[in-house]
Amino acid sequence: MIDLPKIYCAIDTPDFDHAKSLINQIAPAGCGIKLGLEFFNSFGPDGVKRVMGECDNLSVFLDLKYYDIPNTVAGAVRAASKLGVDYLNVHASGGLDMMKAAKDACSEGTKLIAVTILTSFDEQAICAAGYSAGLQDRVLQMAELTKRAGLDGVVCSSYEIKSIRDACGKDFALMVPGIRPAGSNSDDQKRIMTPAEALNKGASHLVIGRPITNSDNPAQAAKDIIASL
Ligand code: C5P
Repeated sequence: MIDLPKIYCAIDTPDFDHAKSLINQIAPAGCGIKLGLEFFNSFGPDGVKRVMGECDNLSVFLDLKYYDIPNTVAGAVRAASKLGVDYLNVHASGGLDMMKAAKDACSEGTKLIAVTILTSFDEQAICAAGYSAGLQDRVLQMAELTKRAGLDGVVCSSYEIKSIRDACGKDFALMVPGIRPAGSNSDDQKRIMTPAEALNKGASHLVIGRPITNSDNPAQAAKDIIASL
């Protein structure tokens, strides 16, 4: 199997030509791409297929974060994984049965990972939502549940890498957003880490958006990040 890229660049735009242009610049540098709800709700499965046709062996993480009853999520995962993306995700809070059903329905070539707790939650929001465990404990519980359901890994913040890696082992994929190269703008990300730091802590893949996509030269920005690893 070809090694999957260390960096997935978040293509967060409702402009298809802009997405295509970015992908053509950054994929040859060795990045995969992350397509999320904005892209998918604008262009659908056909849009995903079209960008996958742009570059040979383009690795795609389709970040649609499914959360529903097991049968419905299984159907969504079955359909989405047929697109041939490398990564797809669900919410771990959908529970063990939902994740098991999703994993059973997922095509073999697609890795299924789970969001533990959205990083927009802080301790207060966790409490208001009625969860009894604190944020860090809850993240770890969700990661362990994900592993128990047989999924391939989780999306987590850089500050959770170590505890999840220790609890879930070396083969569990950790997909980590909130990454900023040294000296770059943090934008709206609150807790950031450099690419090298996050990989040294045990991240498997990094999700990086604006430091690449807002750069005057996205191809060079991607190359510089890869060279810094
Ligand atoms: O531009 P930036 O590098 O901040 O983009 C990060 C990407 O990762 C965005 O698509 C954002 O929605 C996503 N993301 C995140 N934090 C999470 C989960 C996903 O920033 N916890």
